[in-house]
Amino acid sequence: MIKKILFLGLIFLSDKSFSQKFEGLALTPPMGWNSWNTFQTNIDEQLVRGIADVMVSSGMKDAGYSYIVLDDGWMTMERDKTTGDLIPDPKKFPSGMKALIDYVHSKGLKFGLYNCAGTKTCAGYPGTRGYEYQDARFYASLGIDYLKFDWCYTDGINAKEAYATMSKALKTAGHPIVFSLCEWGSNKPWQWAAPVGHLWRTTGDISNVFDGIVDHGTWKQDGIMKIVDAQDSIRQYAGPDHWNDPDMLEVGNGLTVAENRSHFSIWCMLAAPLIAGNDMRKMDESTKNILTDKEVIALDQDPLGIEALRYVKKDSLEIWVKPLSNDNWAVCFLNRGNQPKQIDFDWQNEIVNDPLSKKELNAKTSTYKLRDLWSKKDIGDTKKPLKTTIGVHDVLVVRLTKS
Ligand code: GLA
Repeated sequence: MIKKILFLGLIFLSDKSFSQKFEGLALTPPMGWNSWNTFQTNIDEQLVRGIADVMVSSGMKDAGYSYIVLDDGWMTMERDKTTGDLIPDPKKFPSGMKALIDYVHSKGLKFGLYNCAGTKTCAGYPGTRGYEYQDARFYASLGIDYLKFDWCYTDGINAKEAYATMSKALKTAGHPIVFSLCEWGSNKPWQWAAPVGHLWRTTGDISNVFDGIVDHGTWKQDGIMKIVDAQDSIRQYAGPDHWNDPDMLEVGNGLTVAENRSHFSIWCMLAAPLIAGNDMRKMDESTKNILTDKEVIALDQDPLGIEALRYVKKDSLEIWVKPLSNDNWAVCFLNRGNQPKQIDFDWQNEIVNDPLSKKELNAKTSTYKLRDLWSKKDIGDTKKPLKTTIGVHDVLVVRLTKS
C-alpha cells in the first residue's frame, strides 16, 4: 500500500514538473498583431503607438485582438557589456521600451516581444542561448505578456530541451507570459510542446501568395495553400492552451479579396492563432471587414478548440468541417482552382464522422439551420441540397445550428 502511494506520488510530482508553463493563458487561440510580415526590422515606437491606436479605433480590439507583438529587430546588436542584459534599441525606442509597453497596456491591450533559442536571432541580433533566466527576468521586469521564441543559429541544440529551458525560465521569473514556439515544425513540436508552450509554429514562414513556394535561394517561404496542406494530419495535437500555429496572417498584404477571405476562413476553421500581419493604419474597408468579422472569428474562438478536418479533397474543391460547441458545426467549401466551381452538396447523403471528437454530423437524424457567414444570410436548412457557385480562390463558410 505504502509503495503504491509513493508510486502515485512520484507520478504526480513528475507530471507537475513536466507541465511547466503558465496554464490557462490561451484557452482560445491568441489574437493580435505582429510587426514582421509587413515591417521586418523597420520598427519603432511611433509604429507601435499607431498600431495600438488603430487596433482600438478600427474595431480590431472589439473583435478580440489583444496582443501587439514586436518581432525581430527591437534590440541593439550587442548585449550590455557589464550586465549582459538585452538592450531595446534607443534609436528606435527613444522613450524606452517600458514606456511603450505602458502605453499599449493603457489601451487595454497586451504586449509581446521576440527572441530566439539560438546564439543570434534570425536577423542577427543577440539570441538567448545561455541567457534564458536572465532574459526571462528582463521580460518579467518589462511586464510583457507574450514571447515569440525563434530557432535560428541553433546548430547542435536540442529543440525540446531549449524550449523547455526557456519555458521554465519564464515560469521562474514569475510573470505570466504566453510562450509562442517558432521552430517551423522542424522537430514536430506538436508531439512534445503542449506542457511547455501555448502555441507552436507548424511550418516555415508564410508569404503573401495563395499557393506554391517562394524560393529565396538560401530559404523558402510557403504560400497559404502549401501551409494548409500540412495541417490536417496534426489536428489531433491542438486544443485549448496548446495550439498549432500555421503562422501569422497575410490578410491585407496583397492577396485578392477572395484570397484574403479564404486565408482568414481556413485559419479560423483550423482554430489557428489570429495574428494580423498587415499595416492596420492603412487597411482598406474590405481587409478590415474580413479581419473583424465576428461570426467567422467565433468559429476560431469556439471554446471546444477542435480543428476542422478536411472531409473532401476533390479536384480543386475542398470541404473542411469543424465541430463547434452545442453540437453546431462549421463547413467551409474552398475553391483552390482558377475557375469558378459549382457545388451541389446534399446534406442528406453526407454523414460526417469526426474520428477525433467522435462527433457526427448527420442531417438524416437532425436538421440544421444554415447561415452563410460572409454574406450574412440565412440560407435554409440541411433538408435541401446546397447548390451554388464558388469563385476563384474563394470560400463559402456555413454555420450549422441544430434546430
Ligand atoms: C523567422 C520566423 C519569422 C520571423 C523572422 C524574424 O523566419 O519564422 O516569423 O520571426 O524569423 O527574423
